[in-house]
Amino acid sequence: MIQLPGLLDTEAIRKDFPILDRVLHDDRKLVYLDNAATSQTPRQVIDVLSEYYEQHNANVHRGVHVLAEEATALYEGARDKVAAFVNAPSRDEVIFTKNASESLNLVANMLGWADEPYRVDRDTEIVITEMEHHSNIVPWQLLSQRTGAKLKWFGLTDDGRLDLSNIEEVITEKTKIVSFVLVSNILGTLNPVEAIVRRAQEVGALVLIDASQAAPHMVLDVQALQADFVAFTGHKMCGPTGIGVLWGRQELLEDLPPFLGGGEMIETVSMSSSTYAPAPHKFEAGTPPIAQAVGLGAAVDYLASIGMENIARHEHAITEYAIKRLTEVPDLRIIGPATAEDRGAAISFTLGDIHPHDVGQVLDEQGIAVRVGHHCARPVCLRYGIPATTRASFYLYSTPAEVDALVEGLEHVRNFFG
Ligand code: ALA
Repeated sequence: MIQLPGLLDTEAIRKDFPILDRVLHDDRKLVYLDNAATSQTPRQVIDVLSEYYEQHNANVHRGVHVLAEEATALYEGARDKVAAFVNAPSRDEVIFTKNASESLNLVANMLGWADEPYRVDRDTEIVITEMEHHSNIVPWQLLSQRTGAKLKWFGLTDDGRLDLSNIEEVITEKTKIVSFVLVSNILGTLNPVEAIVRRAQEVGALVLIDASQAAPHMVLDVQALQADFVAFTGHKMCGPTGIGVLWGRQELLEDLPPFLGGGEMIETVSMSSSTYAPAPHKFEAGTPPIAQAVGLGAAVDYLASIGMENIARHEHAITEYAIKRLTEVPDLRIIGPATAEDRGAAISFTLGDIHPHDVGQVLDEQGIAVRVGHHCARPVCLRYGIPATTRASFYLYSTPAEVDALVEGLEHVRNFFG
């Protein structure tokens, strides 16, 4: 077995993930390399979800009965866990949403309905980047169409990094919000937060960071990032689907208006007007994703028990090894940074002129799960003149042997397509 410095004890960790024992197509052991799309779920999280439904299931903040109090304590306990995980100064800064897309849309809508000084209107500008996931493009296009604000973006360099050479022209005194991804889901690039935040602060713009591909893989400290909002999702970090997080600075959450109205987000309601509950409840209208939040709390416990520094070290070692092995494959072109420095563990590539969907299908026949397509980041494919990529993405349970299996699988793809 290949040993690389920094690897976790994957033999032990993989025992926590029952699904990794699956055998596909009769005799192919699953090689799961689609972690940027969704991660697998450890037994520790599955057990907490089962226990929640078997013992505690009720609505939160509403009942006086035992189950309602237990469910509320578990739901709010999950908020404490998430707040600690991202080093939030206050638990009240953690808003539970459905997913990262909803978190990003929530900020766009808060700003769209806000009064000065946050208001986005026809005299203001919104800044994003060309490497955003569609969930950090479309909400800003909608806001721009609704308000008349100008949408601007940073372009990309040929090696898959942000081109910040014109940062002073892109982020100006008119900029209200700069929203960018910390780690690209398609390129794997880790972006230089400090330079962007510094410029945004110079002009008084707010900063929103999409940390969906960062929170599962590295220490995420919202105070160190110095952003105003940070969005991420549970299902990429060993948690269930249906739960996302928006962290926001307390004074902003106090000032900004809610987007969704309904139960539990109010203080008082009359037929003519309403007043709102304090954050985070102001932004959590209706019955929230209770079990999912509890599951995310368990996922955070699980990741913390292994240690985010250890997970980051492991993924760095695997990524370095994967890049080395993949660059040995003839005709393979990595789309994105081709070194393991300043990047995450998602590696996109093309293989000669074989269509990524064909690559993915032949890999699947060998039990290897990757994602193919534009990865909800179509502008990146347009920028590099390709229709799609194949993407392998790794996590704490990924092994060098799985990288070898991928490389062998790609040889098979090449032979298959001549
Ligand atoms: N955002 C997820 C991905 O990159 C779905 O695959």
